[in-house]
Amino acid sequence: MTEEENVSYGVYSPLILSLLLFGIILCFILYLIANDLVVRYVFTVIVIALAIIIGLLFYESTTPLRVKKSTLLVEFAQPRENSLMLDVGTGRGLVAISLAKACKKCKVIGIDTWSPFCLSGVSGNTMEHAEENTKIEGVAHKIKFQQADARKLPFDDNTFDLVACHDVIDTLLIGRDEALAEIYRVTKKGGKFVFSTALPKYVLVKKLSKLGFKRFQSMRLSIKEGGTTYVLCRK
Ligand SMILES: C[S@@+](CC[C@H](N)C(=O)[O-])C[C@H]1O[C@@H](n2cnc3c(N)ncnc32)[C@H](O)[C@@H]1O
Repeated sequence: MTEEENVSYGVYSPLILSLLLFGIILCFILYLIANDLVVRYVFTVIVIALAIIIGLLFYESTTPLRVKKSTLLVEFAQPRENSLMLDVGTGRGLVAISLAKACKKCKVIGIDTWSPFCLSGVSGNTMEHAEENTKIEGVAHKIKFQQADARKLPFDDNTFDLVACHDVIDTLLIGRDEALAEIYRVTKKGGKFVFSTALPKYVLVKKLSKLGFKRFQSMRLSIKEGGTTYVLCRK
């Protein structure tokens, strides 16, 4: 059995996907009962637009693309041997696993709320699925998962050498500032924080600089690679 057949990191935003699918069905029914040509045209455009969004979400969700993205994130962050690392909003363990694979003697903690009502979650978003993936990838001994909220991290100050946050910060609409402050608090002095964002870079860099993070570096992925920006900074 190959890795690709077994490991799954879920599909992004299953709740939003369901709503979009429902929208397509609804528009299709309205299209069928509408007599007016203009109204039919409008529904056709809406259906095509929704189908494109669904297609993009599926494309962004594919396991090989996400594994490639997380590998690039880890290469960019360059974790050191013997590091203690934290993956905030770990989902099914994608980045935690890539971090654990990058060094022989490091430890990774992955935290998530794993809330079934989170709009930005992944399908099958449970600690059990994350643990299964670590076993398949042979890194279970290096990773521990813990249910926790990014806005109130259950760790002491200056604990982690590296904190990663992949595809989480942009969607944290409530409490993003608290989460960033918590990440700063638990990062060791001299430790790194790496994250992905599609927001204009200055929005987060300004906030993070205020907290005390410095030495910012960024890396832009091509559209084919996922089209996001990775930002790395140090405490
Ligand atoms: C789009 S998924 C990304 C998952 C994973 N990082 C990846 O790249 O596959 C966003 C994750 O953030 C988690 N999340 C959302 N709000 C959170 C919070 N306040 N604290 C911890 N995790 C949170 C969700 O449960 C979800 O697993």
